[in-house]
Amino acid sequence: MGREIENILDLLNFYKALGFKELPKNFLESLLRNKITEIELNGEKEKKTLSAINEKISSCTKCSLSKGRTKVVCGEGSITAKLMFIGEAPGVEEDREGRPFVGEAGKLLTNLIEKMGFKRQQVYITNTVKCHPPDNRDPLEEEISLCFDYLKEEIEIVSPKVIITLGKVATYVLMGMKGKIKDIAISKIRGNVFFYNNIPVIPTFHPAYLLRNRKDKWLTWEDAQEALRRLK
Ligand code: URA
Repeated sequence: MGREIENILDLLNFYKALGFKELPKNFLESLLRNKITEIELNGEKEKKTLSAINEKISSCTKCSLSKGRTKVVCGEGSITAKLMFIGEAPGVEEDREGRPFVGEAGKLLTNLIEKMGFKRQQVYITNTVKCHPPDNRDPLEEEISLCFDYLKEEIEIVSPKVIITLGKVATYVLMGMKGKIKDIAISKIRGNVFFYNNIPVIPTFHPAYLLRNRKDKWLTWEDAQEALRRLK
């Protein structure tokens, strides 16, 4: 019997011994949150869980963004999500609340998710860097690469069928275009699909850009439809 199944049985017996007749709400979700995944990182196999990764992110001081943050912003949503959205970096409101995409851009993203036929809790939403850069500046190359291990681990654990990258930072990071983030516009890249570890990645505009350029919303809707086609 696998170790994971043994762990689940232990937990079920524990609840039974406590006198529970029904499983507590969110039982399955909490089990899955502790889903153990073997991850190959820097050439070494390690066992990972999303909660362990979030703990590491929460106490991370690898770059100077940690000094100015109010709250770390970990990814959120379903750990079994088929669809993952990756943004750039937390804004002011996200920094205050400690949750990704809760400001105006977040409302637009939530609308898109719902228009695609999902609830926000059914997808997984995260950022390329997990701390708010001062004055809303773009994250620096160094900050992006120091945070990339976390993103890699999130992708490996959630293992989505499709990833939508929101804006150029997330797009270039998954394309492995280190050092070239400023070089090409997202408008030139969107409309194409590329692969990250065999997962189709669909680049689209960042919702904050769409708030300023509403006419481009229909292009993002085209990208969303490509994601839906691939989910089928
Ligand atoms: N913009 C992002 O890229 N991420 C957020 O979480 C909020 C705004």
